[in-house]
Amino acid sequence: MPWLLQISFVFLLHLSIGITLSNGQRCYDTGNFTTNSVYGKNRDLILSNLASNVSTNGGFYTATIGQDTDEVYALALCRGDSSSETCFSCVNTTIHDLITKCPNQKEAISWAAGPRCTVRYADRSFIGLLETDPSDAGYNVNNITTNLTQFDQTWESLMDRVVTKASMGSFKLKFATEEVNLTFFQKIYALMQCTPDLSRSNCDSCLRQSVSYFETCCHGKQGGYVLRPSCIFPGICIPFMNQLKLHLHLRLLHYHPEFLLHR
Ligand SMILES: *[C@@H]1O[C@H](CO)[C@@H](O)[C@H](O)[C@H]1NC(C)=O
Ligand SMILES: *[C@@H]1O[C@H](CO)[C@@H](O)[C@H](O)[C@H]1NC(C)=O
Ligand SMILES: *[C@@H]1O[C@H](CO)[C@@H](O)[C@H](O)[C@H]1NC(C)=O
Ligand SMILES: *[C@@H]1O[C@H](CO)[C@@H](O)[C@H](O)[C@H]1NC(C)=O
Ligand SMILES: *[C@@H]1O[C@H](CO)[C@@H](O)[C@H](O)[C@H]1NC(C)=O
Ligand SMILES: *[C@@H]1O[C@H](CO)[C@@H](O)[C@H](O)[C@H]1NC(C)=O
Repeated sequence: MPWLLQISFVFLLHLSIGITLSNGQRCYDTGNFTTNSVYGKNRDLILSNLASNVSTNGGFYTATIGQDTDEVYALALCRGDSSSETCFSCVNTTIHDLITKCPNQKEAISWAAGPRCTVRYADRSFIGLLETDPSDAGYNVNNITTNLTQFDQTWESLMDRVVTKASMGSFKLKFATEEVNLTFFQKIYALMQCTPDLSRSNCDSCLRQSVSYFETCCHGKQGGYVLRPSCIFPGICIPFMNQLKLHLHLRLLHYHPEFLLHR
């Protein structure tokens, strides 16, 4: 029986993360470049090396190219739990999307699905700066079915621990995850990450803003996310099944193990 529970949790976790997937680009309105301009060529050049450079540098990479008004700054950040292969393919795909969606903007950012990676570029240096705008947020429409008072107590201490853990990371990685039991049948899973060029206090501040935003937008929901240039909070997810459904699924799993795993 314990292995059944475990498989089912992995499955539920996976499914719940799937629900909160987001894929957002923001093309800034701070200026455009013209086709064939030096700025445009520099942008394309710097982005073309980014996927291989970030994946061979442990998931975080910044670069600059060009001079004066043609100077381009770029950053790529992969989620702390990515392998170098998933990091490469996420950044590669994201750059493609970013160029398509923001063809001639001097500044843009993309949080790719999950988000598994963040890619941004600009005509100004943003390395080491705390930037909380623009942001993107969303949530799972389903409500938490457990006692909210109990949920809030678990939630507050969980958020505090994960924010602190993430901000105490190194200049190469500021990332933390934690999973706690909400009830015997439900877990809360939280993940947070800052760009590691942020100071500890800026990382802490960015994530706390996201947590408090989440509390106003999405309190009582089964999952959600808040994404900012300086920090990502793909949020929490809670397996959405109640006890009865879980039992049912455990029975199905018992008779047809592949049913749940490959759905
Ligand atoms: C940049 O170009 C977009 C269309 O691609 C346009 O909507 C936007 O207003 C332009 N921004 C500036 C600052 O010129
Ligand atoms: C990135 O990698 C390329 C080769 O893949 C290398 O030529 C380049 O110097 C690296 N750095 C930057 C800033 O592009
Ligand atoms: C990078 O992405 C582009 C466009 O999505 C794709 O055509 C190309 O094959 C990818 N490169 C690698 C090495 O995966
Ligand atoms: C969640 O709860 C809110 C307020 O209690 C309600 O308006 C909404 O319909 C519920 N959503 C779902 C999916 O049950
Ligand atoms: C929810 O939990 C709190 C604290 O454990 C308890 O005081 C309250 O009665 C519970 N509410 C319901 C509806 O069960
Ligand atoms: C969490 O719940 C599982 C059963 O669902 C249990 O095996 C585990 O020991 C619990 N962990 C903690 C820290 O209470």
